[in-house]
Amino acid sequence: MKGTVAVTGVTGFIGRHIVNELLAQDFTVQALTRRVQNDAVDNLWWVPGDLADRDSLNELVSGADYVIHCAGQVRGHAEEIFTHCNVTGSINLMQAARQSGNCKRFLFISSLAARHPTLSWYANSKHVAEQQLLTLASDMALGIFRPTAVYGPGDKELKPLFNGLLRGMLPRLGAPEAKLSFLHVSDLAKAASQWLLADLPQTDTYELCDGVSGGYNWQRLRDIGATVRQGPVRLVRIPLPLLKLLAEISTMCSRLTKQEPMLTRSKINELTHCDWSASNQCLSQHINWSPKVSLEHALREGLF
Ligand SMILES: NC(=O)c1ccc[n+]([C@@H]2O[C@H](COP(=O)([O-])OP(=O)(O)OC[C@H]3O[C@@H](n4cnc5c(N)ncnc54)[C@H](OP(=O)(O)O)[C@@H]3O)[C@@H](O)[C@H]2O)c1
Repeated sequence: MKGTVAVTGVTGFIGRHIVNELLAQDFTVQALTRRVQNDAVDNLWWVPGDLADRDSLNELVSGADYVIHCAGQVRGHAEEIFTHCNVTGSINLMQAARQSGNCKRFLFISSLAARHPTLSWYANSKHVAEQQLLTLASDMALGIFRPTAVYGPGDKELKPLFNGLLRGMLPRLGAPEAKLSFLHVSDLAKAASQWLLADLPQTDTYELCDGVSGGYNWQRLRDIGATVRQGPVRLVRIPLPLLKLLAEISTMCSRLTKQEPMLTRSKINELTHCDWSASNQCLSQHINWSPKVSLEHALREGLF
């Protein structure tokens, strides 16, 4: 056994892949969950609770050598929803990890959005959480991962875009020359387990993407789609007023369904931002990680 990892966000898209990778790498996992889990999996122990519940967090980190904090609020109609989970919840978890006296490394799954805190409530909450964790980490090694847009099996956000692309239609949000980047979830999961085992863990902030230099633009995405489907792809511009209208509708519907909306006015700034290119240089240097899955390969093989 390589040690025990306390993991949050395991019931979500990315956390599930991280845990599968950790179990495959012979770690024991203690996983926080807000919902009753009936599946018994070897070396996986469920801890019921929420990031706001300090007793649950103490139980979660008890005996853990490492923490991977992957839980996060990615949807919301108001800023305090993001602050409550992403900032306060992260502080609570770090305090529990420090009090446990056992935890050597803490990996925070932040977001590339944290690079631009003024863009959205989400981006700001991730940025503030990073700052707070850096202040609190003390002598614990703190890795801050800033993945770009992540896709792969179980993802619901990018899947419709890629399905549309492979059917011959790509909606363009933002400027034609905007730079985009992507990361397959299996590469993120590998990076997380590799960081835990790295010889010299450093407190540092790392961007992660699929390694395409300078990122993609909409034209390049269209070309990849056309190559994979062996047919034309129409690039359809979504005007900003329409995007704003869709955000209003989505926010109104969320009140009726009582589900937090993904598309809000705040989110539009993120979606239309001009430069989401990222660099793996720092992480590759520190832990010798490099991504393996290209977008074209993933689209061709249906790995999304
Ligand atoms: N997906 C991306 O493209 C992307 C890119 C960069 C960074 N990230 C970051 O990666 C992390 C995971 O994202 P994801 O796409 O996997 O999101 P997701 O599918 O929505 O999963 C979020 C996870 O966080 C848990 N969670 C949320 N609030 C919680 C709370 N108050 N207490 C305990 N658990 C809580 C959820 O639990 P329930 O199942 O109970 O709701 C779920 O397990 C997030 O921190 C996100 O900011 C994602």
